Amino acid sequence: MTQDAHKRAVAAAAIDEVKPLFNADCVIGVGTGSTAVHFIDLLAQYRHDFRGAVASSDATAKRLRDHGIEVFELNHVGSVPVYVDGADEINPRLEMIKGGGAALTREKVVAACAERFVCIADASKRVAVLGGFPLPIEVIPMARSYVARELVRRGITPVYRDGVVTDNGNQILDCYDFLIEDPQRTEAELNNIVGVVTNGLFAARGADVLLLAGEDGVARFTR
Ligand code: A5P
Repeated sequence: MTQDAHKRAVAAAAIDEVKPLFNADCVIGVGTGSTAVHFIDLLAQYRHDFRGAVASSDATAKRLRDHGIEVFELNHVGSVPVYVDGADEINPRLEMIKGGGAALTREKVVAACAERFVCIADASKRVAVLGGFPLPIEVIPMARSYVARELVRRGITPVYRDGVVTDNGNQILDCYDFLIEDPQRTEAELNNIVGVVTNGLFAARGADVLLLAGEDGVARFTR
């Protein structure tokens, strides 16, 4: 099975996971990335069974609307029973690195509002220790060099993701060669640097459920 087939299989499992929550008032949170795209495409056939969605990026909002799924402003939605999204890495505690697609801030906001976070991933994303994947940090543009110097002072190697502007008009620094032993502490420390909007560690609010696709099918893990 190809990696893309795994992504589609895990997206199908996520549909089964969220279907019991559907009702006329239900607004679900939808993530960003290639695995989330499979989820959106499969979700389309159930669009009359729930009210709509909040999107974690402009790209996701467009794809949802293209399928006839109504997209709501998060500020206009009272509760989000479930958020479904991929990850760049996930550890056994269901802490994640996200933001490979530069959507980390909106993803983190929707995840924070959600009652349940369902992470959908193929087996390549599962790691013992986070940090093999470069950790993205969203910074406001005028603070980029300052934040980079602060990261270097902490022994971290940031690389400016040249040419990328986030949906919030900001920039991304990717932190390489940075094994993260204590994700919750690191998440808080990096977010404390002035000029950082947020970093791609999802540890304070990790996933509640991990659906992981491998050669033997889709396995389900909970925290
Ligand atoms: C977007 O910014 C990311 O957080 C994605 O959710 C993450 O990169 C997973 O993407 P794929 O599903 O494309 O691997």
